Amino acid sequence: MASKDVVPAVTLNSGYRMPAMGLGVWRMENTAVRGVIHSAIRSGYRHFDCAGNYASSHAYIVDHQQLKMHTVNFCTKYQNEAEVGEALAEAFQTGLVKREDLFITTKLWNSDHGHVVEACKDSLKKLRLDYLDLYLIHFPVPTTHTGIGKTASVIGEDGVLDIDTTISLETTWRAMEKLVSMGLVRSIGISNYGVFLTRDCLAYAKIKPAVNQIEMHPYFQRDSLVKFCQKHGICVTAHTPLGGGCTANAKLFGSLSCLDDPVIEDMAEKYGKTPAQLILRWSHQRNIVVIPKTSKVERLKENIEIFDFDISDEDMEEIKAIDKNHRTNQPGKFWGIDVYA
Ligand SMILES: NC(=O)c1ccc[n+]([C@@H]2O[C@H](COP(=O)([O-])OP(=O)(O)OC[C@H]3O[C@@H](n4cnc5c(N)ncnc54)[C@H](OP(=O)(O)O)[C@@H]3O)[C@@H](O)[C@H]2O)c1
Repeated sequence: MASKDVVPAVTLNSGYRMPAMGLGVWRMENTAVRGVIHSAIRSGYRHFDCAGNYASSHAYIVDHQQLKMHTVNFCTKYQNEAEVGEALAEAFQTGLVKREDLFITTKLWNSDHGHVVEACKDSLKKLRLDYLDLYLIHFPVPTTHTGIGKTASVIGEDGVLDIDTTISLETTWRAMEKLVSMGLVRSIGISNYGVFLTRDCLAYAKIKPAVNQIEMHPYFQRDSLVKFCQKHGICVTAHTPLGGGCTANAKLFGSLSCLDDPVIEDMAEKYGKTPAQLILRWSHQRNIVVIPKTSKVERLKENIEIFDFDISDEDMEEIKAIDKNHRTNQPGKFWGIDVYA
């Protein structure tokens, strides 16, 4: 079944169409990637959100006295861009889907802001693609470069992320624009940018960002940022649209989950839907693209079945009232600094 039959698409300011739901592959176990991606394609998913070098992020603590780096566990399971590439190549070869029917996003990791073209080419090589549909600046925080494809988060002796203050975000954006003129990327965008930085990007951009991918769910609704982006033609994509599910971010970051909120549970029952379906539909009705991650085939099907019901205006308002302004994805816990401060 073609995606247009299952998932509606939105038109980006670049003119390209992006399916309103994608599958997030961050935190997907490497061995599961092939099966999950093929099942997702069979279920109607045509949009995959990958994480270039986030996938291979380790935090390194620099020990200047001993002149060596110690790795610290951080997201060690996420190095899966190559596995995604293998799964996609097989899907194309076997005729499961055509390249032109897919929408593939990946991201520039923090340590590669000074090496945008090389980093993008490295991701393309791993993904076995000759173009990306969307390439995002993962975070507005350039950090010490550790080598293309060997990207890490360097932590200084003071226990704080080694942030590179020599590269401006405008310089990074110019290089992103170059990727479009080189034909390597169709649309470019930003991620984890707030109002101030998004506004600034709009001021210097020759090519406007097509997307701002931000954490957004009922406990972190971000109404002002969403309104600002949408007013300026930037499509908002919700990462962590389920708040990390019941356990994922609770375990990793100690966060609260919106999935078992009583308002969500009761309302889901009323609509004959699951809490996850209700939450994803609520985002869709705010014109926000969602990219939930699951490694479970039954949940792939559950999460995509949100285009056959409407949440009433009254119930949309009731969900609005449960906002806790609670960010669940808190990399600062590993970086020794809250980069959103
Ligand atoms: N730009 C960024 O900085 C950034 C940051 C974070 C995430 N992202 C992107 O956003 C995607 C999604 O974010 P996320 O994985 O952090 O959070 P999420 O999608 O909100 O939650 C994923 C968690 O929810 C569970 N889940 C999925 N469907 C469910 C359902 N129907 N019922 C109950 N639980 C369900 C999953 O478990 P199972 O796998 O066991 O089903 C997983 O533990 C990522 O994969 C990544 O592509 C981007």
